[in-house]
Parts: sequence; structure tokens; C-alpha cells
Amino acid sequence: MAIVFRQETFRDDFTYRNSPENIRRFPFPFPDDAYMYSVNVEPHVKGAKGTVFENLIDVDEHYIAEMADRALVLKEDPLRYQALPHMMLAQWDTLELLMEQQAEGYPEHFTLTKDGDRWRWINRPLGIDDTFTFGDATTLPMEPLEYISRQAQGDITIVDQRDGNLWMDAGMVTTQADWSLDFDIGMNFMEWHGPVPLAHQQGVFERALKFLLNLQLGRPVRRYNWTMTVNPRLDTSPENYPKWGRDRTTVTPQNVGEKVHLRVELQTLWRLPRSNAILFVIRCYLMNMDELVTVPKWGRRLHRVLKTLPPELVDYKGLSRYRDDAVAWLSKHDDGAPTGAGT
Ligand code: HEM
Repeated sequence: MAIVFRQETFRDDFTYRNSPENIRRFPFPFPDDAYMYSVNVEPHVKGAKGTVFENLIDVDEHYIAEMADRALVLKEDPLRYQALPHMMLAQWDTLELLMEQQAEGYPEHFTLTKDGDRWRWINRPLGIDDTFTFGDATTLPMEPLEYISRQAQGDITIVDQRDGNLWMDAGMVTTQADWSLDFDIGMNFMEWHGPVPLAHQQGVFERALKFLLNLQLGRPVRRYNWTMTVNPRLDTSPENYPKWGRDRTTVTPQNVGEKVHLRVELQTLWRLPRSNAILFVIRCYLMNMDELVTVPKWGRRLHRVLKTLPPELVDYKGLSRYRDDAVAWLSKHDDGAPTGAGT
């Protein structure tokens, strides 16, 4: 069925909202009443219809608005897209994967036709119909990764595998939770994870790296990460901190429902066929507290997770200024009933 795309903004007047159908498919990430970091990685396989796992690359009602917001970010700051020269093959791998997955999942919106190396790509929501030669960057209007990541929801990094490590050597990062591609480019797995509290001591990153170095072609994996954001703002980057940092001081007990958003990242990791690099897609889903409590078990659970969140994580995720207001607001939606296991 064709998706009805919303017209909305992620800045200024913040008109972003979820339709009731989209709330129902929100990837609520907490299987438990308490949260701590772990190596929470599982196979990325297709799931039920009407969930974000219906297709392996998810497209939803926010697609057109998100692509417009990305274009605005890039206009102001072209360094949100970067690729080191040795990543060209991985760029083509990524273009192929995203075109194939979107065309397979949403044939009414995207069509990919291959005639040898001559490919035709039709993206109806964005009004694009391009023919190019796969492997020849001169036949596209821009580098392949920039081209396709302007047409796919979610941030993207491509990591190169060498010397028993992973290196962040390419990416399109415009919807991030306070980290910077421009800062991290060229870093390895342990280096870019440097600021994360507690997880290093618990061996989380050592185990995660070992796992990823053995990631197999055709067997992608996924994990959730999450934080909170004030206002439905996609671009909460360090580069634009002056624009959004002060939003955290605007939360009051009265406006929590509208202003405070759960920000869920559905992260998928794919071994790429020609380059042996790994594609890391960070798909961001936003939902405000008013929307979230329309599903009663989510309200109960988020209340408990936030209330018991370790102080180091409250601080790292930038929640210190408004966590207490959010917990107090959510407490009215927690009747103390058992939530059971699972989401
Ligand atoms: C945070 C990238 C895989 C666990 C981060 C950050 C980046 C990042 C850029 C933000 C760090 C900062 O504060 O500056 C990546 C990339 C990956 C990857 C590119 C794959 C190639 C994983 C895996 C795990 C993991 C497999 C599994 C344990 C975490 C955790 C955080 C984090 C727990 C902190 C998130 C939070 O509390 O908001 N990652 N990561 N990462 N990463 Fe990864």
C-alpha cells in the first residue's frame, strides 16, 4: 500500500507528529523495566507486517520531510557528508544495497532496473529518475554515497575493516544524537566510542568489536540505542549545539507531553560484498510523551526505565535538566501494574 507522506518540519515551528498508525509501529526499545548497556545485537531479519521490520530498510510517512531536512543541513554544513578516497567501492556497495532494499520493499515508490552496468533508478516520492553506469561516479550528479543517502532515511557510516579493527572512513550524518562525523572520521571502533561511560569497563565494546569483525555477508544484524530529545529535532549535532542545547531548559511540568521525545535509533549493520566494509545505518524514530502514553504499557515502562537510569547514563545522554520533570509526568501513567517481559 502506498505510504501517505506527511508535510512537516524538524526545526523552527516543529510540526512533526506521528499518525496513530505510525505510533503503533514505533520501535519501542525496552524489553525490561530497567536499562543498562549490553551487547544487544540480534539478526536483522524481516518481521511482521505493519512493523518497522516489515522491510530490512524501513521507509515511513516521514520520508520526504526527513530528506528535506537533510538537504537543509547539508546546505549549511557540507562536512556532514564525508568519504575518504579508499571508500569508493564501499560507496557503490551501499548505493546498491539501499536501492535494492527500497525497491524491493516499496515497489510503488522506488524502481531499480539493471541492464548490465547501466542502471535506472526511479524515486517517485522525490521525483527522481536517473540512469547511470554502476561503478562510474562521473555518471551521477555527486558521489554515490551522498547521492543515495540523500534518498534514504537514517544516518549512515561506512566502516573499513583492517588491522583487526573498524575505521569510520565515510558517512552521511545529519540526524545524530550529539556526535560528529567531522570529528570521528578516520577513528577506530574504540576511539569513537571513547566518550561512552561504563560500557568500556564492562567489556561491552571489546565483545561488540570481536562480533562485528566476523559479520557475514547476507546476515545483517541490528541493535537499538535510545536517548531523549526536546522538540522533534533531527539535527542535534555538536556543530549546532548553540541552536538546540538551550531547548533543554525549556521543559516544564506542563509541557513534558508535547516537548519531550523518546528518540530511538534502530541500528543495522551489513557486511558489504565487494569492499568487505561494514555499512552502519542509524535510523532515528521520534515520539513525544503524549503520543507514547497512548500505548499504556510503554508509559509504565518508560517511567520505570527513566526513574532507575544510572546517573552516568543520565548525564551522558544529556537528560539531567529535565529527567525529573519527565519522570513526574510519566508517573501519572504508571499504575504499578507488572509489565512482563518484551516490548
Ligand atoms: C555510541 C558509532 C556499533 C554500542 C556510539 C557513538 C557513535 C557510535 C558515533 C557516539 C559516541 C559519542 O558520544 O561520541 C558506532 C558505529 C558502530 C557502532 C559506527 C558500528 C560500526 C556499536 C555496537 C554496540 C555499540 C555493535 C554494541 C554494544 C554503543 C553504545 C553507545 C554508542 C552503548 C552509547 C549510546 C548512548 O548511551 O546514547 N556509537 N557504534 N555501538 N555505541 Fe556505537
